[in-house]
Amino acid sequence: MMDMLIAHISDTHITNEVAFKSYAYDLIVNEINTKPFDLVVHTGDVTNNGLREEYEHASYLIKKIEKPLVVVPGNHDARNVGYELFEKYIGPLYGVYEFDNGVIIWLDSTIPDLSDGRVGGYKFKWLKEKLEAYSHKKIKIVAAHHHLVPLPDTGRERNVLFNAGDVLDLLLTHEVTLYMCGHKHVPNVYRVEDLVVDNAGCASCRKTRKGDVNSYNIVKITDKGVKVVIRRLTGDEESKEHNPIRPKIFIPRGRRLLRIVQISESNVSDRVYFRKRTLENAIKAINEKYKPDIVIHCGDVVEKGIERYYEKAMEYYEKVKGEKIIVPGHNDISYLGYELFREYFGEPEVLELGDFVFIPILSAQYETQIGVVGRTGQKMLSRMLEEFREKFRIVIMHHNLVPVPGVKEIGYLEDAGNVLKIITENETELTLTGHGGNTSAVKVEKSPIINAGSISWELHRNPFGNSFNIIDIYEDMVVAFEIQATWGSRKVLGMWKIKSEIPWL
Ligand SMILES: [Fe+2]
Ligand SMILES: [Fe+2]
Repeated sequence: MMDMLIAHISDTHITNEVAFKSYAYDLIVNEINTKPFDLVVHTGDVTNNGLREEYEHASYLIKKIEKPLVVVPGNHDARNVGYELFEKYIGPLYGVYEFDNGVIIWLDSTIPDLSDGRVGGYKFKWLKEKLEAYSHKKIKIVAAHHHLVPLPDTGRERNVLFNAGDVLDLLLTHEVTLYMCGHKHVPNVYRVEDLVVDNAGCASCRKTRKGDVNSYNIVKITDKGVKVVIRRLTGDEESKEHNPIRPKIFIPRGRRLLRIVQISESNVSDRVYFRKRTLENAIKAINEKYKPDIVIHCGDVVEKGIERYYEKAMEYYEKVKGEKIIVPGHNDISYLGYELFREYFGEPEVLELGDFVFIPILSAQYETQIGVVGRTGQKMLSRMLEEFREKFRIVIMHHNLVPVPGVKEIGYLEDAGNVLKIITENETELTLTGHGGNTSAVKVEKSPIINAGSISWELHRNPFGNSFNIIDIYEDMVVAFEIQATWGSRKVLGMWKIKSEIPWL
């Protein structure tokens, strides 16, 4: 296959207002025209307000790019019914661009007059059909405006794709090579399993974050994999490469060092949705069959923070044998729960077990599903990950860090982007979360992140049913299974190699 070199620009925000920096636009376009790019992809917010005069201006400026061009609409382009003008002045809102051994499928993820995104109903179906139709292509690229995974340094996590979890799941299932997007004006590259998530910063808008400058990304696709370079207007470059290893069948070597049972959302209560028998069966199976070294409850132990429910919950958890760590979820700290949680289960504390360290992080807030770790919490997390660098570090929190399928993602963890960055930059060995009522397991960069579904609450979103996870840590691998809480059937969630040079071995 021939190499493919793509210039990825985004968020030009063309307007005659101050938001638009025409010299930044010209600099980037000149650079693109003089380098050997095969293609330019613009991931949206071409204009600032979707206005006619902006589109007229933009259609003129866009023509300065002397390369094949794919342009995706952004939320700003859709403002003021601008999506109608986009097609007239720029091009189609959806499409497919084929090259040699690859394909780029681009789509409109905008919602009229909202900053949030969605790849709903028909769009989702269209994307799925295209991924199936082009499944024979070695390189599959999907481009849309909205980000897929929380980004650092964006302030509050919001304007997310409402079904980011479903989209992520779809792209992973279809072995998509690269997802290209923009929107948050923050350049970032993550590897999620074998998918490279390439976020471009803003090419020519004044609204950069954290004092950053304008930038674009250079994407190089070769036989081996994908390399993304974030190129800033100052000339600084940051680069990241991912070369997937195939085939992906691993067999653990060496002995098993630790077995974790991860549960979440038991929601003990007297409501009909609480499945008492399911919880009892699961506890029995955990004690007698799975015999873990530690049980970790990722929160929402009770359905409401009242004494009667805590009393009941205590009866169940006393039956669970061995070590336990529980972090509170938002249900646990509702009403009197903040006090009751500490009275019944105690303050979650760091626990060291041989070469392993468990780091509980508080993310739940009063009376809201939205969680936050906060800047103080983030600093503490960084410090602890640093302090225990020599150990196998397991971070435990309630709120999910990566979008979960089947859940309407509204940015459940306010500062998910920053927390995810801390987790990945420190190459955290394992992170366990438990929000959303569905299971998901992905490795972001070098860090496996596993979300538990609900063990005993009927209102879940897991097609597999109520469940809990088993995570076995071997000398060279982490293997995660999901166990159906009623029937006991099992499903592999993931197998991830542990790099042998990590210091704890
Ligand atoms: Fe933008
Ligand atoms: Fe945007």
